[in-house]
Amino acid sequence: MTDISIAATIGNEKYEYPFINAAGVYDETAAQMNEILDSQAGGVTTKSATLVSRPGNPLPRYFNTELGSINSMGLPNQGLDYYLNYIEETNTDKPIDLSISGTSMADNLKALKKVQSSNFNGLTELNLSCPNVIGKPQVGYDYDAIEDTLAAVFEFFTKPLGLKLPPYFDLQQYDAVASILNKYPLTYINAINSVGNGLVVDAETESVVIKPKGGFGGIGGTYIKPVALANVRAFRQRLNPEIKIIGTGGVSTGKDAFELILCGADIVEVGTILAKEGPAVFERLDTELKAIMEAKGYQKLSDFRGKLKEYQE
Ligand code: FUM
Repeated sequence: MTDISIAATIGNEKYEYPFINAAGVYDETAAQMNEILDSQAGGVTTKSATLVSRPGNPLPRYFNTELGSINSMGLPNQGLDYYLNYIEETNTDKPIDLSISGTSMADNLKALKKVQSSNFNGLTELNLSCPNVIGKPQVGYDYDAIEDTLAAVFEFFTKPLGLKLPPYFDLQQYDAVASILNKYPLTYINAINSVGNGLVVDAETESVVIKPKGGFGGIGGTYIKPVALANVRAFRQRLNPEIKIIGTGGVSTGKDAFELILCGADIVEVGTILAKEGPAVFERLDTELKAIMEAKGYQKLSDFRGKLKEYQE
């Protein structure tokens, strides 16, 4: 297995291993992010930052099920300065990606102006898809808002930018969103965020399992893998080839990651399984992915990335 490389690149960032955390999981504090960097993860993403820190939604706001999870965290985070300082002070060869999720377009622009004038030159991910901010719809479902945001951002932002997108479910949605994204110099997209506003019911207590929003929340884990595969595949078929794709959603094994890469993902993020297993999961995923590649005779990710075949008779 020693000849097999699972390294990948997005923009100028090199990931020796193709797995990192999904923004929002194991990344609110410096201590958590350091644990990820010390593991066999390829890098780390910060919790989606707002301009000032937020406590997030009332507890309980996260619940594990056998097939995944539901969350309505509500963007608890330490504020943008905390994450910029963390990046500045952390000595690592691994990429640290900065996630931003303002609760309004004005806040997103302010945050990105701050990043633009900072020393940070890594990947910034603008999250247009958090389903859990009470009273705020997901920008990623509003085509005009996506376009307005990107037009305003690229007036001043010259650093590598990615977008975290919500899941789409109709082929027309992929056409519409890709035709907007292709007009801008995006470095990557991240598909998908959790499937928003699902519901988990506890039959025994006859109640919902999380408190915010009457129990509605973002669904992650195995439930959403086919949706993630479809979004990665559909965007890979439609986006300019320079726009890379981070595949996120339902990955709990190396085989899941192999499938996402086959659909076109450049690297893979993990959320629910990281919350369940902790950062030791990265070593397992690296090993499982390499074992599949060895069995199939692949030596690097580009040997199969995006090469999903049509149905074979
Ligand atoms: O509620 C949250 O903090 C989740 C954010 C997200 O899904 O982007």
